[in-house]
Amino acid sequence: SIPSLKETFKNDFLIGTAINPAQIEEKDPAAARLIPMQFNAVTPENSMKAAFIHPGWDQYNFTLADQLVEYGKKHHIKITAHTLIWHSQLPGFVRGMKNPDSLRQYFTNHITTLASRYDGKVFSWDVVNEALDDNGSLRQSIFLQQLGEDYIVEAFRLAQQAAPHTELYYNDYNIEQPKKRAGAIALIKKIKKAGVRIDGVGIQGHWRASHIPLAEIEQSILDFSALGVKVMFTELDLSVLPNPWDRDNADVSATADNSTAKDPYPNGLPDSMQTVLAKGYEDLFNLFVKHKDKISRVTFWGVNDGQSWLNNFPVRGRTNYPLLFDRAFNAKPAFYSVIATG
Ligand code: XIL
Repeated sequence: SIPSLKETFKNDFLIGTAINPAQIEEKDPAAARLIPMQFNAVTPENSMKAAFIHPGWDQYNFTLADQLVEYGKKHHIKITAHTLIWHSQLPGFVRGMKNPDSLRQYFTNHITTLASRYDGKVFSWDVVNEALDDNGSLRQSIFLQQLGEDYIVEAFRLAQQAAPHTELYYNDYNIEQPKKRAGAIALIKKIKKAGVRIDGVGIQGHWRASHIPLAEIEQSILDFSALGVKVMFTELDLSVLPNPWDRDNADVSATADNSTAKDPYPNGLPDSMQTVLAKGYEDLFNLFVKHKDKISRVTFWGVNDGQSWLNNFPVRGRTNYPLLFDRAFNAKPAFYSVIATG
């Protein structure tokens, strides 16, 4: 048997994973075995997003979320519900809305219904997800256009009223970068100034194994915790492949072959890349442990490589290897490098 992540970091921070519904049942026995041994926090990867849980005006699919709540209770796993207000994975009836009054009615119903139903049953909600642009201003979205710039404060106000026993978070990617971080700081201050509760901020953590912005991440931990909110890493995965937006262009062109090949490593991740991945995770977890008093949770975006969304993003069908467990659920060298930091 292998060491346990949640045991290793039990005095430091929660260790979470994103899961899909099959992984808590016999349909995926390897995942079902591994999850309670390794993790004490879970985020549903898709099943509580608007398109799934609220597909029509008066239509809700609570079944999967209810099952997840039971699962969490049984295994002492804290659930972070994900997510109430996000521009993506919206159902068709919302995407097509032209009337701001209808959208506001939807917004109120959606937040109130879900936040109240799961209050005291989930540990936390990602209330608003990805509301900022990389330059730190508010991202264009149906919510910004039709409800105005106070929609984020309003989302937290509604969530607070409906879920007094649930922690409420803002979640986004790239908010370790200075401009976007400044936008997130301004947002958190605005929510607090309005007298509305926000308990934490989630830095998603979709980075590239060879290019982790450690200095920016460290400054973000300090800056966000200085606001008096919990700091979490909520969707951690380290791509071993280049992305179109990588800031180090020289490196991208040097590895351009890998960026377009569907399976750059047909014989599995080579030792040299296992080492890069292990080093990336080691550096990151050394930083997390250094600031463990300021970090409440680190959640991986998936249990094993086969589940990772990076097999479809940003290059559809490209095989990636970003997590601690391989496609056969074996612990990779990166798993042991993480354990060694604890
Ligand atoms: C992703 C899921 O992993 C995929 O299965 C789905 O097709 C798209 O969404 N930021 C988020 C997550 O907040 O909800 C996204 O999850 C990944 C990026």
